[in-house]
Amino acid sequence: CKSCWRPNIKIMKAINFFLLFIVSINLGAWWDTGHKMVCDEAYKLLSTDALEQVDPLIEEHGSFGEACLWADWIKNDRKDTRSWHYINLPDDQQDTYTAKCPENGCLIASYYQQLDILKNSQASFDLQEEAMWFIGHFVGDIHQPMHVGYPEDLGGNRHYLEFEKGKRTNMHKLWDGQIIEHMEFIHGKDYLLENVRFKIEMFKDSKHSVEIESWAQETRDLAMQKSVGYKGNELKFVTNQYMESHFEIIQERIALGAIRLSKTLNRIYQDD
Ligand code: ADE
Ligand code: ZN
Ligand code: ZN
Repeated sequence: CKSCWRPNIKIMKAINFFLLFIVSINLGAWWDTGHKMVCDEAYKLLSTDALEQVDPLIEEHGSFGEACLWADWIKNDRKDTRSWHYINLPDDQQDTYTAKCPENGCLIASYYQQLDILKNSQASFDLQEEAMWFIGHFVGDIHQPMHVGYPEDLGGNRHYLEFEKGKRTNMHKLWDGQIIEHMEFIHGKDYLLENVRFKIEMFKDSKHSVEIESWAQETRDLAMQKSVGYKGNELKFVTNQYMESHFEIIQERIALGAIRLSKTLNRIYQDD
């Protein structure tokens, strides 16, 4: 009959597709926010010498922020690069300076490899482009606590947690983006950027180590801090209070990433 409702396969399929599309947008939007901010804010701190070198290498992406997301997009096509995004240390090995990098690569070794390509004026334009996109991404990753995690739980990916409403998550996902999502939910979209910019102003003229091992050590020490609940996989439940009490740490890690990325690029491109 005309007025009875029958499920329409075409419409059902369209709805399904739409829902999947929304889910996939959300997946991408997580740590993307942090990576993009690190690179866009770093860009604003570049010297004229550095800008001259950086601009042609990021042109294809339109902005440094966008270019710094590329390393995540290619993970499926270039599986050999997956382990380049983190460096894990077991609990009885807390020193990032003596950390062993596995055969298939790790964040610290990959950072140095890509930095060498960037510094090598003989390297092809294509390789230098990739190196620039990798470096911007890696400086973000090395400031994220769960990217200097334990190997046993895959950097917190297997440290399972439960939210107050019973929804399940894991430590890695929480620190990659769910705390940022909660920050946006509580304080609005602009709050993170405003605070990051404030912290960049606060820290940009202080002394910063030029070594990635030192940034990694700071990140590791943070991951091991009692309040984080990662040491010994102690945390089981995530409360709003837990997320809110770590907002400042996230803002600070992004600010420090931006400052150190700009200083690194300003250093390698000085006096050319
Ligand atoms: N897989 C294993 N360790 C990881 C880490 N620290 N981050 C992301 N993926 C991982
Ligand atoms: Zn990454
Ligand atoms: Zn991650």
